[in-house]
Amino acid sequence: MDKTRPIGLFDSGFGGLTVMKEIARHLPSEHLVYFGDTAHLPYGNKSPQAVLEYALNNASFLLKQNIKLLIIPCHTACCHALETLKSKLPIPVVGVTEPGIELLKQSTRSWRIAILGTTSTIQSGIYQSLILQQNQKATLFPTACPLFVPLVEEGLFDHPSAHLIAEHYLAFLKDKQIDSALLACTHYPLLKTTIQDVLGPAVKLIEPAEICAIQTREILLRSNLLNVAAQAPRYQFFASDDPDKFKRFAPLFFGSEIDSVERISIL
Ligand code: DGL
Repeated sequence: MDKTRPIGLFDSGFGGLTVMKEIARHLPSEHLVYFGDTAHLPYGNKSPQAVLEYALNNASFLLKQNIKLLIIPCHTACCHALETLKSKLPIPVVGVTEPGIELLKQSTRSWRIAILGTTSTIQSGIYQSLILQQNQKATLFPTACPLFVPLVEEGLFDHPSAHLIAEHYLAFLKDKQIDSALLACTHYPLLKTTIQDVLGPAVKLIEPAEICAIQTREILLRSNLLNVAAQAPRYQFFASDDPDKFKRFAPLFFGSEIDSVERISIL
């Protein structure tokens, strides 16, 4: 297979750019194609069936871009579509669930763990069962925080309202002696300071973006797919709605400006 083919990523919107940033840092020679399904954002309050359908459409669009590996940075999409895509696609598929669990295993001592995610992610029970597969005695506190995504998208990370809402969702965890909280949503790393303030300094916040990049590198190496050509990487961005908003929000998640976003309809 041609190793210079791009890696594809899809998310419900721009949140997955936090993972793309780590991929670009750890795999600087790889060409990357990112698709944000902004027409259907947010996935977090959609049914499992709807999210699976969106994910299948997104993957088929990216396959047409000739990708050699697919990364799904969206936790909600991973919960409802990762296993199906792994079994259907002719290329390796990497999610954020397994990297998240790996990091959690390295971090937790007490196995008293909070899982913070969208309503759909928490209701899927996927993270709960993956953690219990590691340790049946784990004590879990799955917590849906549906207002976190719109807060981030309004840019209100440090606003008093963010603290109030974080208190509303997370205050009950304060006396639960958790030692780790899994940030199981692309947007939550942007609320890290607020979440840490509420949970206190003893709780380790688990973000899977970097370990996902490290695991992707290992998979490429093992599959003899790593692009070793010394050339400038090409990054392409597509969105299913409002490319201007995507371009405006991108630096917040990606850490730098992006050149252009093409709108494509995959309905
Ligand atoms: N990307 C989604 C996730 O990580 C968050 C935004 C949404 O609800 O679509 O679960």
